[in-house]
Amino acid sequence: MAAGGTGVSEHFSSRFAFLLAAVGAAVGLGNIWRFPTLAGENGGGAFVLVYIFCVVLIGLPLVLSETLIGRAGGHSADAIGSLAEVAENSGRSRNWAFFAGVGILTGFLVLSFYSVVAGWVLYYVWVSGVDLVQALAAAQPFAPAFDHMSQDEVTGILGDMFASPATLIFYHALFMLVTLGIVASGVTGGIEKAAKWLMPAFFALLLLMVVYGAFTGDMGAALSFLFTPDFSKITPAILNEAFGQACFSLSVGAALLITYGSYIPKSVNLGSTSAMIAFADTGVAILAGLMIFPIVFSVGLDPAGGPGLIFVTLPIAFQQMPAGALVGFLFFILIFFAALTSSIALLEGPTAWLMRRFGLGRRTAVSLAGGGAFLIGVACALGYNVWSDVRPLWFWPIFADNDILDSLDGLTGKIGLPVSALGVALFVGWAADRRVVAAESGFSGGVLVLWRFLIAWLAPLAVALILLFGLFPSLLS
Ligand code: ALA
Repeated sequence: MAAGGTGVSEHFSSRFAFLLAAVGAAVGLGNIWRFPTLAGENGGGAFVLVYIFCVVLIGLPLVLSETLIGRAGGHSADAIGSLAEVAENSGRSRNWAFFAGVGILTGFLVLSFYSVVAGWVLYYVWVSGVDLVQALAAAQPFAPAFDHMSQDEVTGILGDMFASPATLIFYHALFMLVTLGIVASGVTGGIEKAAKWLMPAFFALLLLMVVYGAFTGDMGAALSFLFTPDFSKITPAILNEAFGQACFSLSVGAALLITYGSYIPKSVNLGSTSAMIAFADTGVAILAGLMIFPIVFSVGLDPAGGPGLIFVTLPIAFQQMPAGALVGFLFFILIFFAALTSSIALLEGPTAWLMRRFGLGRRTAVSLAGGGAFLIGVACALGYNVWSDVRPLWFWPIFADNDILDSLDGLTGKIGLPVSALGVALFVGWAADRRVVAAESGFSGGVLVLWRFLIAWLAPLAVALILLFGLFPSLLS
């Protein structure tokens, strides 16, 4: 399909291509940045255990549900159209498509701030790249990172970046442009090709970093931190946090798996492929923990470093580690690759919708969707400096203290993703034609019965609880 076409006949060329693209969509900042941050803040092992239950019992059934809606809806290449089609063919109202609409809007909003955070990563690629070049120029390729800087100066990199609107906007723009360029090249020529290069490179770097952590860091402390659950730490708040993270990380609730689903060849077994996506995504999150925490522990830093864990804590650690300059640079490249394959998927949802709904060419649709998300992202970036006093949702108690980026994160995470995921679970569990659902799932016998139970009962109940507790946190106290 030419880059300027409407995308109606676009599809992935093979199961493996889809698998790479979908794993790429799932693996992102959520795995490398958010998961270790949340695990670090919520006591390690207890959080990891709850998280795995959430992925298997709720996330995986939802991944399958979204992809099967996309494929059953035909190669219409637009999530809203797919859901409306399956609803109509099941003798239900096309209004079920509302939930796909919420998903597309949510994905679009997530993209706007995701690109800003990915821009921070790009800035760190630049800073650590310069540091590495200096080490190489001094003929010390295995020097620690930021050798010539004090610890305070390393800590200050993040603050200095936040204080500069030009820096934040420049790197946000750069990241968005790369994303736009890939999505504009179409499903096979852009999304699939990017995943085929970026994902293997990402996995190679991840394994390299884990091995580095194992040899130079304190792997024993990391293993016991991540895998020794203290059950007293499992509170309703942690359950809620883990549910939300599972949805975010698997990219459930942003309709992008519905969009990708419409590009999947009929020969692909969706049930087993969805299981592989969930397995790979969770594996990467755990490996990210095994990459980061040995390094953090080996230099005696705090695992509960919060969102600054990878931008402040790790650079300080790299400053004290052998070959820290090289490893720090590779680490930020790795996160950049992960973020890019996710942002591509986040952009493809609204792009496909614009193409199909308004008959736009791919390049025009990409420019509109990406341009819109970029502008909202600019507001997020300014929220760190010139608009740091702005509280867009000041009237809403749970969001009242949030800056612009956190407001969008809160709105999408606490409302958008769960509402869309709830609609998908209710639709597949109760409204969609059972024969279509069974045939598309690739499941039969006991596995089909189990999956039906999870998607009809457990997932809606759990997601409704996320929604409720997210909006009314006082219910948890
Ligand atoms: N699923 C993507 C991530 O984890 C959005 O970053």
